[in-house]
Amino acid sequence: MRIGVLTGGGDAPGLNAVIRAVVRKGMDTYGHVILGFRDGWQGAMEGTVSELSIDNTRWILPRGGTILGTSRTNPYKTENGAQAVLDTLSANRIDALIPIGGEDTLGVAAKLATEGVNVVGVPKTIDNDLSGTDYTFGFDTAVQIATDALDRLHTTAESHHRVMVVEVMGRHAGWIATHCGIAGGAHVILIPERQFDIERVVRHIKNRTAKGRYFSIVVVAEGATPIEGTLVTQENETDAFGHARLGGIGNLIADEIEKRTGHETRVTTLGHVQRGGTPTAYDRVLATRFGIAAIDAAHDGTFGVMVALHGTDIVTVPIAEATAELKTVDPKLYEVAEVFFG
Ligand code: F6P
Repeated sequence: MRIGVLTGGGDAPGLNAVIRAVVRKGMDTYGHVILGFRDGWQGAMEGTVSELSIDNTRWILPRGGTILGTSRTNPYKTENGAQAVLDTLSANRIDALIPIGGEDTLGVAAKLATEGVNVVGVPKTIDNDLSGTDYTFGFDTAVQIATDALDRLHTTAESHHRVMVVEVMGRHAGWIATHCGIAGGAHVILIPERQFDIERVVRHIKNRTAKGRYFSIVVVAEGATPIEGTLVTQENETDAFGHARLGGIGNLIADEIEKRTGHETRVTTLGHVQRGGTPTAYDRVLATRFGIAAIDAAHDGTFGVMVALHGTDIVTVPIAEATAELKTVDPKLYEVAEVFFG
C-alpha cells in the first residue's frame, strides 16, 4: 500500500513520535510505502510530498514540533481546495491517508472520508479538547511546562507579596488551566467553560489577605471570558477555521485585580512555550501507541476512523463522531480545583 501522512493545526509535542511509529511498523512489518505531505492540508493541496524512510525518521522520537511542518490551511475554505487534495492523492496513488491533528484537521479528514478517501485520523492537541478520546498527546507536556512555571512563580510571588496571573493555552476548553492549576496549587482558575465574575476573583484574593496570605496565583485559560457586561474584552482576528487569535485576557484581569485589591499584580503569558520542546515520556508513549494503531488500522482496511485512548486501551472510533463536539472540562474535576480557591 501507499500511505500518506500529514500533520495539521497547531503543533504538539509527540507528533514526530507518531510519524516514527507509522514509518517503522508500516515499512518494517508491513512493507508499505509511506509518504509525508508538507505543512498539513497545504501540502496535500499543492502536492508537496516526499517519501519517508527509517533513516529520515531516525532520532525524531524526543524532538518537539513536526518534521513534516504544519499549517492551519482549510481546503474547504480554499477555492477548489478539496478537489486539489483529491487530485494529489490520486496522482500519488495514495491508498490511505493518516492525518494527525485536532478538531479542524480531523474535521477536514471526516469530510474527505465522505468523498471516498480512506482516512485513519490520529488525535493531537495540547488543549485535550477532542471528544472520542480520553487524552490527546501534547497535553501532558503542556501541563508539565505550565506546572513548572507555576512552581517558579509561587516563590517569587510569595517573596514580593504579589498576585501572579498566569495565562495558559486553551481556546474552548480549560483542561490545561485546570490540570496545571491543581498540580501547581493555584488559588483561582478561570476556564472557558465558566464565565467568570471578576468580583468573585477579587474576593478570593482579599480572603487570602485576611488570612495572612499576601500572595496569590491566578491561572486563566486564554479562552476564558467574563460574565457579560462586567468587563470589556478585545475583538481578535480569525483564522481559516474561524478561530479567533486569543491572548490578552491575563493582562485585563491583572489590571482589574490590581485596581480592585491594591495588590501589586504581574502577568505571565506562557503562550507557545507550552507547545515547544521535547515531549514528556507519557506523550511519547501515547503518540507511539496511536501511530502503531493508525498503521494497523490502515493495513487492515479499517477506514473512516480515528484512533483513541479509552481508559488504558487504544481503540478506533468513527472519525465523524470524534470531531462532532468538543470535550470540555469535567465539572467534577473543576470542583476538586475549587476546594483550593481563596
Ligand atoms: O493548537 C491549539 C492551540 O495551541 C490553542 O491552545 C491556541 O489557542 C492556538 O493553538 C494558538 O494557535 P497559533 O499557534 O496559531 O497561534
